[in-house]
Amino acid sequence: MKNIESNLKEKRTFKPSEKFVRQANLKNEDLATLLTKYNSEPDLFWKELANTELTWIKKFNTVCTGTSPFFKWFEDGTLNVSANCLDRHVETDKKNKIAIKHVSEENTITNITYNQLFSKVNSFSSGLKKLGLKKQDRVIIYMPTIPESITVMLSCARLGIIHSVVFAGFSSESLKDRINDCSAKVVVTVDSFKRGGKSIRAKDTVDKALDMGCPSIDHCIVYKNSSEKINFTKSRDIWWHDIADENGVIVAPEEMSAEDLLFILYTSGSTGKPKGIIHSSAGYLLNCLLTNKWVFDLKNDDIFWCTADIGWITGHSYVVYGPLALGATVLIYDGAPTYPGGDRFWKIIDENKVSVFYTAPTAIRTLMKLGDELPSKHKLDSLRLLGTVGEPINPEAWIWYHKNIGKENCPIVDTWWQTETGANMIAPLPGIYQVIPGTCTKPLPGIEVEVVDSEGNKVQNASQGGNLVIKKPWPSMLRGIWGDKDRYINTYWKKYDNKFYITGDTARKDEDGNIWIMGRSDDVVNVSGHRLGTMEIESAIVSHEFVAESAVVSYPHEIKGEAIHAFVVLRDNFKLHGEKQFADELREWVKIKIGSIAKPERISFSTNLPKTRSGKIMRRLLRNIARGEKISGDTSTLENENILNQLKDIF
Ligand code: PRX
Repeated sequence: MKNIESNLKEKRTFKPSEKFVRQANLKNEDLATLLTKYNSEPDLFWKELANTELTWIKKFNTVCTGTSPFFKWFEDGTLNVSANCLDRHVETDKKNKIAIKHVSEENTITNITYNQLFSKVNSFSSGLKKLGLKKQDRVIIYMPTIPESITVMLSCARLGIIHSVVFAGFSSESLKDRINDCSAKVVVTVDSFKRGGKSIRAKDTVDKALDMGCPSIDHCIVYKNSSEKINFTKSRDIWWHDIADENGVIVAPEEMSAEDLLFILYTSGSTGKPKGIIHSSAGYLLNCLLTNKWVFDLKNDDIFWCTADIGWITGHSYVVYGPLALGATVLIYDGAPTYPGGDRFWKIIDENKVSVFYTAPTAIRTLMKLGDELPSKHKLDSLRLLGTVGEPINPEAWIWYHKNIGKENCPIVDTWWQTETGANMIAPLPGIYQVIPGTCTKPLPGIEVEVVDSEGNKVQNASQGGNLVIKKPWPSMLRGIWGDKDRYINTYWKKYDNKFYITGDTARKDEDGNIWIMGRSDDVVNVSGHRLGTMEIESAIVSHEFVAESAVVSYPHEIKGEAIHAFVVLRDNFKLHGEKQFADELREWVKIKIGSIAKPERISFSTNLPKTRSGKIMRRLLRNIARGEKISGDTSTLENENILNQLKDIF
């Protein structure tokens, strides 16, 4: 990919200001102490951090136990994650500190203190309890990023219920699949919410999902977020205000094992079926908290705005659990990034004195295109640290972010991690590292990564890429895939005999030990920082009655990082009347099946696809075509060579 090649040539380095270095949570000498400890006694390293950072009900004795790839952390200890995020703060002078500053699309600002959040969580927990939910039952959250969705997450954690947040942009079909996969008993939603000035009727989507058949669901709880009228099924639907009505009620946090599951989060893999990544309680919380402290350098007076939706792992770890466990103030905004104008983000930073800002390269590129005048209209001097996540950042966007947003005064942390890793794994320590734009730098203390070849040997040549693996277990690692042990082993461990965790990313390690992420090695694409399985999109397309076959590949895109090209073969008896019209229909179809984020940018129709003699589609060749590259590699196994010319002509 063009971006990656130019990234690798980048040599400019940027170091933090003296002022930043002096105040950093982690200084050079702290890093040296941490590394010495980890290198001599890794268990003691984690033990001390878990003891000092988390509040336990019963202290643990064991640190990392189990046989690869089934690890357990602090297993004989007990705690409650919600108590770590709330109760321990309301007992201190943090009780009147703002926990959540909510900015709505209409710019209504609601400040919620730790005490108020504590009350909301207790009152909603009491409502959930009345429904008879038990420890480790599953609750689906289909809501935008508002104080109430965070309230539901923390209430589930309080009662030991496993939550699964489904991004509120997913279709009813995707929602139904997730509900059924984890046999959820309750779904919590809103009547509707605003995005780009338009109403998104979330409850209608939930109704459709439930109508398709979700036998495990007993109730749908609806938070009244607007004045829109909705359908209400009396035997099933419950208004939030009817069950969470007791002010001042206290619900004792459940004593949970460190290894009890905190949540399931569905993500795409290389098959058509999304996988429910499962995370534990204590280990997950520990890495979230530490990285908020080490990488985001969070302090008591910071206002931290991570723009991620709670439907993604970034929202879980850097909007909810990490910052709240630290007792920080988080800003949340549930509107569109460019509504009502392209300077909305910069206006929010200015008006609310945001000091730490974390977003995705795709957002930076979109806003960069709108011109430098937009950020220059606003005072951004409250900012002291910037972050990026989700995809490689090209040096051009990095430099723009550094100059126009950070005013050359803020370190930028390019954080590499995944839904599966739970928290940042490779990222700069902002008060210590000199960074080169385009590299996420080095693994954090306690994390050991390597770039290996297909045999599992370290790639020696620094200019060569290989598979990025994590060599040692870490506390916030996924504990598996909900209901699918074999897929967990096969996807993440088997290739190297359970020796390493396989990230699915390819990377290069330079002479200084910096990691440069190159892309995915599997059939996963990254569109605007969202992870999508090409097989998922293919199966959505072929489920259309006029489609016989489809192959989906990605190509580099200026704004989105990667975009989707779908090659489609129609059924014999279907005659196209208008290609453009049917392509639009197919895009809508994908939206209905998965959600808007999966809509292909390009669709091309042909009479066949390049296949091997055994009938396997050669996606590699389609990738070459979609990317405008010369066909590379061996084509001798191709059964129908002519098809390549046909495809190239169409394109
Ligand atoms: O390919 C890597 C890319 O995003 C993938 C993980 O996606 P997801 O589980 O949805 O989590 C996204 C937010 C953590 C990775 O396998 N990725 C994530 N961060 C970076 C990245 N690629 C390059 N640089 C990053 N900083």
